[in-house]
Amino acid sequence: MDGSPAHKQESRVIAASLSSASVKFGEFTALRDISLDIEAGDFWTILGPSGCGKSTMLRLVSDLLPPATGTVEILGKTTEAARLAREFAFVFQDATLLPWRSALKNVALPLEIGRKRGIDIPVGDRTPQELLELVGLKGRENALPHELSGGMRQRVAIARALVCQPKLLLMDEPFGALDEMTRDHLNLQLLDIWKETGTTILFVTHSIPEAIFLGQKVLMLEANPGRVKEVVEIDLPMPRHISLREQPEFNVYCTRLRRLLEEC
Ligand SMILES: Nc1ncnc2c1ncn2[C@@H]1O[C@H](COP(=O)(O)OP(=O)(O)OP(=O)(O)O)[C@@H](O)[C@H]1O
Ligand SMILES: [Mg+2]
Repeated sequence: MDGSPAHKQESRVIAASLSSASVKFGEFTALRDISLDIEAGDFWTILGPSGCGKSTMLRLVSDLLPPATGTVEILGKTTEAARLAREFAFVFQDATLLPWRSALKNVALPLEIGRKRGIDIPVGDRTPQELLELVGLKGRENALPHELSGGMRQRVAIARALVCQPKLLLMDEPFGALDEMTRDHLNLQLLDIWKETGTTILFVTHSIPEAIFLGQKVLMLEANPGRVKEVVEIDLPMPRHISLREQPEFNVYCTRLRRLLEEC
């Protein structure tokens, strides 16, 4: 696909592989029998009704929860090994920045923690300073989180997530609390970052247009128990522009996904 990350063309590497994975909380089955291969460099978005297990799935992939059955691998490693090797990073709905540290120092934090603990952290090609530039925050390096807007704070969180050069970026409704204009802007910026870094992205959202606009594939989960309803390939050209959302083919996907969601 035109505009896809450069490393995609090399070979078929699987960034995340789930095989008959399920998650239980006591007697309650939150996810059942999830089998998926997510190819390196792909951008997947995840949709599904509230409580269907979207966040649980990201927590499963990121080693925050163990599978009750089945297996989960990141780049051929266990999730624990992948976590220790900083193969993935997480961005939450709330930016979770340390309020007393500047934007730049928040971005640099994972590197500092790694150094203090004597962990061999993979240092990315880009310095924290360059990452702030990448997310459009040049000149705001010394600002404290409370001096930044919600969108800016979220961009700092994205820069921080990129500092160890993760191969997989897990994003749980990162733009859910932002106004529509800011969200549009960050959607475009995220696609640029995805293209430039070549990272794989798993992105949870409640917005059907956002899922289509960003994703090459939309994973639709259904509820009770959470399971795969369908994986919908979004066959729309990259790079994407905001005007794409006015195109009839975009609206065909909106209608299709809305119907699928209604069935979940
Ligand atoms: N720690 C927990 N203990 C018990 N049940 C949990 C726990 N975490 C999640 N659940 C349950 O698992 C189910 C899936 O939760 P999850 O947070 O993954 O849903 P979600 O799809 O992310 O929802 P939303 O769209 O509202 O964020 C829900 O029924 C929830 O109550
Ligand atoms: Mg959630």
